[in-house]
Amino acid sequence: MEKTITVIRGDGIGPEIIGQALRVLRKIEETSGCTFHFQEALAGGCAIDACGTSLPEETLQKCLNCDSVLLGAVGGPKWDGVPKEIRPEAALLGLRAAMGLYANLRPARLFPQLAAASPLRAEIAERGVDLMMVRELTGGVYFGEHRTGIENGGLTAHDDMVYTEREIERIVRRGFETARKRSRRLTSVDKANVLDTSRLWRKVAHRVAEAYPDVAFSDLLVDNAAMQLVKDPAQFDVIVTENLFGDILSDEASMITGSIGMMASASLGDGPRGMYEPIHGSAPDIAGKDLANPVGTILSAAMMLRYSFGMAGEADRIERAVSAVLDAGYRTADCMSVGCTRLTCSEMGERILRELC
Ligand code: IPM
Ligand code: MG
Repeated sequence: MEKTITVIRGDGIGPEIIGQALRVLRKIEETSGCTFHFQEALAGGCAIDACGTSLPEETLQKCLNCDSVLLGAVGGPKWDGVPKEIRPEAALLGLRAAMGLYANLRPARLFPQLAAASPLRAEIAERGVDLMMVRELTGGVYFGEHRTGIENGGLTAHDDMVYTEREIERIVRRGFETARKRSRRLTSVDKANVLDTSRLWRKVAHRVAEAYPDVAFSDLLVDNAAMQLVKDPAQFDVIVTENLFGDILSDEASMITGSIGMMASASLGDGPRGMYEPIHGSAPDIAGKDLANPVGTILSAAMMLRYSFGMAGEADRIERAVSAVLDAGYRTADCMSVGCTRLTCSEMGERILRELC
């Protein structure tokens, strides 16, 4: 089997964490008989510097003509002043839209070894966190019309939030399908007491639910969901929600696991091709210092093997290697606790590689 992977290192700590994930993928190559062809592409701030835009056409073409994309992180204060159309974030949104990646899967799992790093009280953290956020990724307010102008004598801004029945249906289905492979519980999160888009969301979700009688289904208002996530996160299995709510709730969910640096994500469409990236940002303050946590990126590479390449066994191997390294008490600075051994980014990559043998 041969797979072409477009590698976008991006900005800040992106190049360092991607470097470690590539070492892991090369190791998998040696032992699995699968050949990976890596093609590098520029996106984000470094692409603005080199090409004048955060998503050069060449990068887009590489992403559209490969088997999957592995991305580090984009953005940084250096590009805060650039016009919004070419901001580093625009590259992410552009890739999601152009590749049709409407389903963003963000697992939030509290590694038992890291329970002490969770900001939750011990008796809540001990009950565990193991949920999957299924976030709609190509609709809603992110992709509605944005404009600012003078209206009635004052500056006024609009961000349109739009959802079609079709967009809601396909992501809710993805939520149910995901729940079927886990503990068969799905919570749909909306704001149906206020928003029309949410009222449509709820109506469609209930209709889709009829086809999944084997999955326990419930709705939750987004404000209540934010509260329940810190009060009793163990109640959740799969959460499906629209783009903006998913953006916010997935940061909250990752934080309660105590280790945003460990969190991976997959963005998928209808086919096997996806884009895989850690959910944390480019952390410019620690960039180039070999301090970053590469685990979120390494676990994203594992998700790529599982979801895009049908290599679940190899994905399991990577996840087990990460767990073994944590069991042995090795940590990067972001999730260090007393009695553990602190590693640099490259040392963490090295430890995980050794466990993979
Ligand atoms: C994320 C990020 C992006 C988003 C930003 C960088 C555009 O926060 O992937 O969650 O809001 O989707
Ligand atoms: Mg976000």
